[in-house]
Amino acid sequence: MSSTKPESVINDKAPSATRRDTLSITDNRTGRQYELPIKNETVRALDLRPMKVNDEDFGLMGYDPAFTNTASCSSKITFIDGDKGILRYRGYSIEELAEKSTYIETAYLILYGELPDKSQLADWSYHVTHHTFIHESIKKFLDGFHYDAHPMGMLISTVAALSTFYPDAKDIFNPESRRKQTYRLIGKMPTLAAFAYRHSLGMPFVYPDNDLSYCGNFLNMLFRTTELKYRPNPTLERALDILFILHADHEQNCSSTAMRCVGSSHVDPYCATAAATAALYGPLHGGANEAVLRMLVEIGSINNVPAYIKRVKAGEKLLMGFGHRVYKNYDPRARIVKHIAYEVFDVMGKNPLIEIALECERIALEDDYFVSRRLYPNVDFYTGLIYQSMGFPMTMFPVLFAIPRTSGWIAQWEEMLLDPEQKISRPRQVYLGHDLRSYTPLDRRG
Ligand code: ACO
Repeated sequence: MSSTKPESVINDKAPSATRRDTLSITDNRTGRQYELPIKNETVRALDLRPMKVNDEDFGLMGYDPAFTNTASCSSKITFIDGDKGILRYRGYSIEELAEKSTYIETAYLILYGELPDKSQLADWSYHVTHHTFIHESIKKFLDGFHYDAHPMGMLISTVAALSTFYPDAKDIFNPESRRKQTYRLIGKMPTLAAFAYRHSLGMPFVYPDNDLSYCGNFLNMLFRTTELKYRPNPTLERALDILFILHADHEQNCSSTAMRCVGSSHVDPYCATAAATAALYGPLHGGANEAVLRMLVEIGSINNVPAYIKRVKAGEKLLMGFGHRVYKNYDPRARIVKHIAYEVFDVMGKNPLIEIALECERIALEDDYFVSRRLYPNVDFYTGLIYQSMGFPMTMFPVLFAIPRTSGWIAQWEEMLLDPEQKISRPRQVYLGHDLRSYTPLDRRG
């Protein structure tokens, strides 16, 4: 793994010329000079295309594997300042939302751009609550999975299957249809997730309870056994709600990019959400909290932490839950999560792995390897410990990320669809393979 260091800075002394929002480029292959407009701190990659050596030349392109310095869209949803550790949804700080809002209200904010008034919130909650049931046939799909199937695999498959039940979802440029699919997706993701979990336990499915909150109902569908009425523990219900707020959106991350990219083909939102969920499953993204817990179990005791850190520094291991493409400071979500962990431990008892996690963090924050690379705990470093204490198996951790992130995915998808500048996503490549060569018959190949 290596970080790409920019090589383009030639002279950083600013001359005292009058400011113009343009970029001057001299193409030293031809001696021609170009002036590119700068807007919103970006130049347009297509403005490079006229830079050609001759008429046959395709023109210059930007080369940016993994999009480390390429904006693929403009957006009004989420703001991140990775150097300062700032995260805001629609202008509201994550700290204030985590303290004062609920997930269902935050989802509305992310989707529709403003906090709802009382009647808008009541209407939104009503519609989400009344779209939590899933078609009985989905249960038959779930029955087909092995008892030890990973719930993310079951979630990805069943959310894609929803597309076959709602053919009206193909009408993506109809605002009413989009609104309906939004209710369905936000309402049904917890049900699909809970049913996948119950399937893995061999337990009967628990149907949604409309009297409970979004998270209260989710806990009901997961954990209810023989009680006539499930009553969620208020501390755990609120902890889950805050975790859902923290995970609701995170601008152009891997899964949101998958949502936009797949959605740009104009497929229905269920299939695009299945693709985004698949992207989230990977251990470098939403699968990281599961990987953190496996790492802490592998480390086993505080005494083994220095040896593990040594292996990380030797490049043999990653310190899972550390580092972020955008945050080069403490992830603001990780701070809030750490606080919630202790509230959950007060109810459920202390997770013994917390001591190992704290020791990893303490050593890493003082060690030059991590400091010089600006590697800090990300949101996933502590969430696994909370989820484990709440009784979730590790395989459910990425599922608990996918449920709230659905609001962000839908908002990103809708913004992409309505953006007149967007088209089907189709990057370019730099072809470095063979030039034309002639076919050799099989009997003459050595
Ligand atoms: N442990 C040890 N070293 C690390 C780690 C880590 N967790 N993360 C990055 N580094 C090192 C790299 O080896 C690299 O070192 P080098 O310059 O000597 O080659 C340097 O830090 C820069 O890392 P990159 O991989 O170039 O950074 P990138 O932005 O591509 O990766 C990522 C970000 C994928 C999150 C990475 O930090 C990582 O793998 N972390 C562990 C997995 C994780 O926690 N993922 C969750 C992210 S949050 C989320 O998705 C919700």
